[in-house]
Amino acid sequence: MKVTSYAQGSAEGFSFTPENLEIANKFVARYPEGRQASAVIALLDLAQRQSDGWLPGAAIEYVANFLEIAPMRAFEVASFYTMFNLKPVGKHFIQVCRTTPCWLRGSDGLSEACKKKLGVKFGEVTEDGLFSVIEVECLGACANAPMVQINDDYYEDLTPERMAEMIDDLRAGRELPVGSQIGRLTSSPEGGPQTLQDLPPFDGKAVKMAPEPGSAEVAPSGEEG
Ligand code: FES
Repeated sequence: MKVTSYAQGSAEGFSFTPENLEIANKFVARYPEGRQASAVIALLDLAQRQSDGWLPGAAIEYVANFLEIAPMRAFEVASFYTMFNLKPVGKHFIQVCRTTPCWLRGSDGLSEACKKKLGVKFGEVTEDGLFSVIEVECLGACANAPMVQINDDYYEDLTPERMAEMIDDLRAGRELPVGSQIGRLTSSPEGGPQTLQDLPPFDGKAVKMAPEPGSAEVAPSGEEG
């Protein structure tokens, strides 16, 4: 469930780092004079990234002051969108999708695996600060259900066993392969493509289209070799 109160004064004197200040000014410059408030989502996201994945009250107020809007206007945005966290999260922030396609494909098992492996309830942070886990609604990768989001990346075609392995890998500092965990290419069928199998492999180069009838590349009739 979305937390709608924020930790007042838990981050003293928040301000953007020089690098983030430069980025924030670029975001604001994208909008016409007097419309700088339109950058509020981008700036809250920037502040959240600077604050270890969550938005203390001081960061929300800083963004509001930066944009010259009432603090409540920034808080309304931060409390509405689930992408903003109003309390601390772990270094690896796991969001388990629980909407129907993922649920039918076993998301309950993923949630249980996370809670059991980490020894926390939803919304809690592990003692070492490394992990936190919540359940969320559809993340838009239903074709490869069940799936989770960890920080900015998606991990798909999961089982409880694979979820537990991934937590072990993250704890050991190992990198995880993103996307399908069974090697599925994007959202193609399990076992590989079932149609259009005689196409040459796509190598990432531009595909040469057939020439238009009548173009210079089409040999006039009778000139074929
Ligand atoms: S239902 Fe899980 S990604 Fe859509």
